[in-house]
Amino acid sequence: MQQKTKIGIVGCGNISGTYLKVAKTFDILEVVACADVIAELAQAKAAEYGVPRACSPAELLADPEIEIVVNLTPPAAHADIAMQALQAGKSIYNEKPLAIEREDARRMLRLAEDRHLRVGCAPDTFMGAGLQTCRRLIDDGAIGRPIAATAFMLGRGPEPWHPNPEFFYQRGGGPMFDMGPYYLTALVTLLGPVKRVTGATQMSFPERVIGSGPKKGNKIAVEIPTHIVGVLEFAAGAVGTLITSFDVWAHQLPRIEIYGTDGTLSAPDPNTFGGPVKLWRPEKKEWEEVPLLPLRAENSRSLGVADMAQAMQSGRPHRASGALAYHVLDLMHTIHDAAREGLHITMTSACERPAPMAIDD
Ligand SMILES: NC(=O)c1ccc[n+]([C@@H]2O[C@H](COP(=O)([O-])OP(=O)(O)OC[C@H]3O[C@@H](n4cnc5c(N)ncnc54)[C@H](O)[C@@H]3O)[C@@H](O)[C@H]2O)c1
Repeated sequence: MQQKTKIGIVGCGNISGTYLKVAKTFDILEVVACADVIAELAQAKAAEYGVPRACSPAELLADPEIEIVVNLTPPAAHADIAMQALQAGKSIYNEKPLAIEREDARRMLRLAEDRHLRVGCAPDTFMGAGLQTCRRLIDDGAIGRPIAATAFMLGRGPEPWHPNPEFFYQRGGGPMFDMGPYYLTALVTLLGPVKRVTGATQMSFPERVIGSGPKKGNKIAVEIPTHIVGVLEFAAGAVGTLITSFDVWAHQLPRIEIYGTDGTLSAPDPNTFGGPVKLWRPEKKEWEEVPLLPLRAENSRSLGVADMAQAMQSGRPHRASGALAYHVLDLMHTIHDAAREGLHITMTSACERPAPMAIDD
């Protein structure tokens, strides 16, 4: 029987319930504590999911039995909590993005390396049945040599339904930092790292109006671009187009498509673990739905944590790695930099493609 890895969760908000529920489905994970700056939230989650201990973040970080801290705080707190966890001798798994500023993320990765600790980061959706099926098809040559990719995440923004949407319109928010990690992580794990980018951005609406909750009717001053177009040149040769937007009422674009010399692959929503995966080949001249590999297709957030725990026990690299998340963070910033400065920018970061999932993983 494999040994359990004890984990502690910091940040007991919206997404924590999913992690707490799914973590129980992995034999390797044991959630021993959860913490939040709002003590009642930690207590409520501990009671709901049978976590033995609800405590303060400081108490959780001082708990000697915890090996991995899972950081589910808002993006602005990611770097600080991660640094404190690493300083306390624990490996860290952050929700996305890895940090808001590149320098904070680099500091985090350096400290982890010095202390022989791990840094992991969401999203882990690329480890699910849908995107792993795409990976297998590409690696097996089903579309020949990948030559181009498109990825689109367009909507009108979260303020109609989200009761506290201000942070979406401040630095570190916007459609790219909020949703870009899913799309860029999918593209990088399918096609490898990006070597050069350019971009164009726009802030189409200087003001937003909150549409629900106690702040309904309040105005938000928009501080960042909300329509971001990126052009990605992958080191392996393909060229990609990525659009993320909070400015678009409706569209009919796909989520992700990969175009190859011998066919086209339609990938699923990268914010999910399942399908559909569709393949178009010139012999058939029609779309075929491809059966998914027998991997997790349901919402499995914390799969990346389980993979990291298993990797720590066996000494192999983990898949949702700090290096992958750093390349994605660097890409998101560099697209904005290129747009602001009117440049094509050569990336200084890169990463290995994580190993594909083995079916018995
Ligand atoms: N909500 C979602 O559907 C969703 C989905 C995927 C990823 N995420 C990511 O998960 C993270 C959390 O999102 P959320 O929606 O759960 O946010 P949330 O605001 O609902 O919850 C965050 C929690 O962290 C706590 N917190 C804030 N600062 C803290 C600190 N310094 N120490 C300890 N606790 C602190 C807050 O009190 C709050 O309870 C974000 O990075 C987000 O991008 C969210």
